[in-house]
Amino acid sequence: MNKIEIIAHRGASAVCPENTMIAFERALELGATGIETDVQMSADGRLVLIHDETLQRTAGSEGWVKDFTYDTLRTLDAGSWFHADFAGEPIPSLEMLFNLVQGKRILLNVELKNGIVPYKGMEEKIIQVIREWNMEQQVVLSSFNHASLVKCKRIAPDIRTALLYMEKLYRPYDYAAKLEASGLHPYKLAVAKEEVTAALAQGIVTYPFTVNDPGDMELMMDMGVQGIITDLPDVLASLMTARTR
Ligand code: G3P
Ligand code: MG
Repeated sequence: MNKIEIIAHRGASAVCPENTMIAFERALELGATGIETDVQMSADGRLVLIHDETLQRTAGSEGWVKDFTYDTLRTLDAGSWFHADFAGEPIPSLEMLFNLVQGKRILLNVELKNGIVPYKGMEEKIIQVIREWNMEQQVVLSSFNHASLVKCKRIAPDIRTALLYMEKLYRPYDYAAKLEASGLHPYKLAVAKEEVTAALAQGIVTYPFTVNDPGDMELMMDMGVQGIITDLPDVLASLMTARTR
């Protein structure tokens, strides 16, 4: 079996508070070969790593990310909601994650969370930061907002994009090719073996999300996917080792 990418969803989010530096560091320790993260934009145009548009669930505060400056957001506690042991973990900036993975053989999947809040200039800003950090080869941009990915591709044809989707699509690889995307990131129930094969024949890789059940991981590997996005990178790494024995 070929090695597949083990992509830690929001970092090692089963054992650490999602989208924090400790979750990203732990993912690398647990054998992840890639990290997925969610990016929103602050009032002063900084890229911050937090899944929700609002602060309530993971940062214990009222309001929307878009309404606060980075200097305010960085003082919030993104760890306590998960466990008291993580109290004070800050909301990271994209640059902090770049600093962790730059130069390592780690794939970085940055998901643009601009489906609900239409962050003006988000695409330009992400590409600017990627270029400043020379992360062009390491980053894959994904989004449920496919128009935004097309915009990214227009600005930066050299940076890979991948389409996120929930439902089964007809010939998703043809659609991806039209949008010049190099990856499909389907919800796990939208994956079909023949489409994985057909996509790869066009040079398009398939990384389903979010696959946490070991049986589902096996199923995805049987379907020939090239990567799996999971909260449990260590479980996937062990399964892969067992299969190669
Ligand atoms: O990128 C895969 C996955 O993260 C998409 O859904 O809601 O977990 O960001 P969500
Ligand atoms: Mg995500």
